[in-house]
Amino acid sequence: MKATLVIKNIDNLITLKGENKARTKEKLRDIGIINNGIIALNGEKIIYVGEGNLPPHIVVDEDTIVLSGVGKTVTPGLIDSHTHLVHGGSRENELAMKLKGVSYLDILAAGGGIHSTVKATKEASFDELYLKAKKSLDIMLSYGVTTVEAKSGYGIDDFSTEIKQLEVAKKLDEDHPIDIVSTFMAAHAIPSKYKNNPDEFVDIIIEDMIPKVAEKKLAKFCDVFCEEGVFSIEQSRRILLAAKEHGMGLKLHADEIKPLGGAELAAELNCITADHLIAASDKGIKEMAAKGVIANLLPGTSFNLQTGKFARARKIIEEGVAIAISTDYNPGSCPTENLLLIMSFASLIMKLTPEEVITAVTINGAAALGLEEKVGSLEVEKQADIVIFDAPNLEYIIYHFGINHVDKVIKKGKIVYEKNI
Ligand code: NIG
Ligand code: FE
Repeated sequence: MKATLVIKNIDNLITLKGENKARTKEKLRDIGIINNGIIALNGEKIIYVGEGNLPPHIVVDEDTIVLSGVGKTVTPGLIDSHTHLVHGGSRENELAMKLKGVSYLDILAAGGGIHSTVKATKEASFDELYLKAKKSLDIMLSYGVTTVEAKSGYGIDDFSTEIKQLEVAKKLDEDHPIDIVSTFMAAHAIPSKYKNNPDEFVDIIIEDMIPKVAEKKLAKFCDVFCEEGVFSIEQSRRILLAAKEHGMGLKLHADEIKPLGGAELAAELNCITADHLIAASDKGIKEMAAKGVIANLLPGTSFNLQTGKFARARKIIEEGVAIAISTDYNPGSCPTENLLLIMSFASLIMKLTPEEVITAVTINGAAALGLEEKVGSLEVEKQADIVIFDAPNLEYIIYHFGINHVDKVIKKGKIVYEKNI
């Protein structure tokens, strides 16, 4: 078979070879490293992964692009499985309040926070949102990200804005090299109009919005911000059960700030992921392990909320829960697109090993989006989404933090990003 692109003599080829499912416990550290590795692609697919030279049945001719992997570390394309990509405006005006100690939930309760982004998103045109989100995707791609999840949630009761966000994500999925998976999240804040009767808003989400989003096929998943002063456990349960009936996968912003029992609810409803989990209980973590719910950990948000509290990642792993790691990129609680920085936070602050971290942003990130059969590892037949790092090994990428170590990004077999120095 003809190779269209080959990367040879790779110092550290990190394959993540293994079962196409979220990895737990010691399997989180089994990342399938090949030294002096070689990988061959044909079009969008991987056709060979091994050590040394190519076997005779893989044909290299004058049209084949051949790249050197000397001094390089090669991994599967990174997957950012929790972002609020499409939104208007920015909230740097909250920094001064944050520095004075005003909390995220207090800013939200006073009508700021998510509510100010709702206003900016409503006012932005489709094209403005598209161009802003495209700029973020370009940055993400430069950091090695090849698949991104994108939530709505800045329209809340203004359904046309929710739809506008999802349509922007759909168009970007078509136009941009990065693949985008959409999540419907109108249940992101209680609109001021429904402050005194939030259940009325919950009814609208269930009866009017979810059926329409499902019918238009605009979202694969549904998510709820289950938090004190936002959506209660019972309201979150009702919304997610309705989404399930309409064929959507379920996600939950669970126990981000207050220990409400979000982890337990995610287990009860068989959510694909429970995200944040900073305040998750021991019981909730155990129940997630029993049900195979993936913990999507977002250390950049803990860092930026300045509470000093991070998800208990080591405990979560010890209990047998699979972990993913994401940026949570959004204008309020984590304004950064830089997944490499978040990976360093996961290691340096949450005490994850570099092996656990890379698994969490590749095969486990893929599983967090239901894409584990297609992406997340470098194996024959999988989609050729690959990052070439200008780094001698994985530890270097995580340890030498805050720096972009990406040399090239390959998406569906094509070089889509190259560092220009
Ligand atoms: O995951 N917690 C709710 N949603 C986001 C923040 C969104 C925002 O502040 O705009 C989060 O932290
Ligand atoms: Fe979030």
